[in-house]
Amino acid sequence: RFAVVIAVDGPAASGKGTIARALAAHFGLPHMDTGSLYRAVGLAVLRAGGDPADAALAAKCARTLDVAVLDDPALREPSTARAASVVSAHPEVRAALLECQQAFARQPGGAVLDGRDIGTVIAPDADIKIFVTASLDVRAKRRQAETPERDYAVVRANLAERDARDAERDAAPLRQADDSILLDTSDMDRETAIARAIALAEARL
Ligand code: C5P
Repeated sequence: RFAVVIAVDGPAASGKGTIARALAAHFGLPHMDTGSLYRAVGLAVLRAGGDPADAALAAKCARTLDVAVLDDPALREPSTARAASVVSAHPEVRAALLECQQAFARQPGGAVLDGRDIGTVIAPDADIKIFVTASLDVRAKRRQAETPERDYAVVRANLAERDARDAERDAAPLRQADDSILLDTSDMDRETAIARAIALAEARL
């Protein structure tokens, strides 16, 4: 069987992780959630008592990343998400995490990776690129349902802040690759979004 590389990008809480996992299961491919790498770096900086804005410290944490931390439930906490979005703007951090992501994408049978810059930087030659999006309100409602933070306005403001940082940074900003398929999940439930993504991917193979 030939190798298929699938890049899934999009903003926070767009459904990209769910879609990437479903595509991986459907095609029998390994999956990497690249956001967890940046979260792990953010968490390592916080645990070292440092400031995520400190590029040198963040780069050191990225270069010495302990894969055991990738299973840490603290990766999902809002404070970690915020730290991840700050450390991910440092070019040194992105450079340190580049090779492991590209190696994952080069596996013999192919792979599914989800993140912000998979179709643009990590795997620009991916066979299938899907850019998953949804309106800020819909994403905030989804995120609210899965985080301890109950205040909708706080969840929405945090997402908007993270979106802005991801889109406006100089190093690999979040943007839709020219050759990607746009999948707006605002009006879709989970099952519909997954079915649509699988149909789009099948049509491209
Ligand atoms: O996708 P997730 O919310 O887990 O990503 C956490 C943060 O990591 C994002 O806000 C983004 O700043 C950063 N990230 C990135 N590039 C990726 C994946 C995530 O900059 N490929």
